[in-house]
Amino acid sequence: MTTTEPQIEIEVHLAANGGATMAREVRLGLSTDPKELAPKYFYDERGWQLFERITELPEYYPTRAERAILADRSAEILAAAGEPGTLVELGSGSAAKTRHLLSAMRDAGCLDTYVPVDISEEITHETAECLVEEYPGLAIRGLVCDFEHDLERIPDGGGGRLVAFLGGTIGNLYPDARREFLARLAALLGPEDRILLGTDLVKEPARLEAAYNDSSGVTAEFNKNVLRVLNRKLGGDFDPDAFEHVARYDAGEARMDIRLRSLADQTVRLDGLELEIEFAAGEEMRTEISSKFTRERLEAVYEEAGLTLAGWFTDQAEDYALSLAAPG
Ligand code: TRP
Repeated sequence: MTTTEPQIEIEVHLAANGGATMAREVRLGLSTDPKELAPKYFYDERGWQLFERITELPEYYPTRAERAILADRSAEILAAAGEPGTLVELGSGSAAKTRHLLSAMRDAGCLDTYVPVDISEEITHETAECLVEEYPGLAIRGLVCDFEHDLERIPDGGGGRLVAFLGGTIGNLYPDARREFLARLAALLGPEDRILLGTDLVKEPARLEAAYNDSSGVTAEFNKNVLRVLNRKLGGDFDPDAFEHVARYDAGEARMDIRLRSLADQTVRLDGLELEIEFAAGEEMRTEISSKFTRERLEAVYEEAGLTLAGWFTDQAEDYALSLAAPG
């Protein structure tokens, strides 16, 4: 794909063996006890559409809460981050919420470069083309890659960098992976650079569970979509109707635990892996965890990764937080 805009540069670093990685990860996940699938496999086109509908559900507050914080407090966030010239965004997608930050940077007179980092080449190009129209003079240096693997490719930016990781996705990593990810990110930061991290906050279990068990069943369809992805990509014969969606809050671990429960004894074939897997009736397979934080817990998470909490911004209801982290 080429672009005609001189201020847009997009590098693509997609692994040629993405299919092999998926095959290996799925084989491993299905052979552990309990079985487990990685949440990144929810997101084919249908998965994105279903997730988009989740974000609009009355029960699912995190997206709205994060958007409200950005809409109301971007200028404050930018000031607390030292008015950086470069905004890096991990998982940038269509950059819908990001525009609040870019506009605040423009208004503060510090906006120079936007570095969108996303796994989809198409959406990164589309977003870049829109943004150079909307923000005259903005330079875009995009990266198409799996940011969990290719973090080190993030370019230096003029005027200090703010690295945004929104959507609460950090909560989907297990503690070890989270620590490693944040420590690697911390190691890339200069003294002026800051991280802006979106995290859902601990609250009443009933509200958390409602957010992941909507009454219209969209969340259940989204969860089961991973089975359709496996069917298509790995030649599977999963019957999505033979599984039910389960989402419980684990108060001890402070996280939602999201699973698919087999409704019967059944054998599933994955031709692409030359694999047959047995499910017992009632057996549960984990598809995602979604950790919930408190300010204290996040301070500890930052500390063990070599970071310090440098700003805390919540919505009015204190359902969700955007926090700034500084190296050191
Ligand atoms: N990353 C989102 C979250 O943790 C994704 C999500 C929302 C999700 N609802 C879900 C994942 C239901 C699996 C099942 O909030």
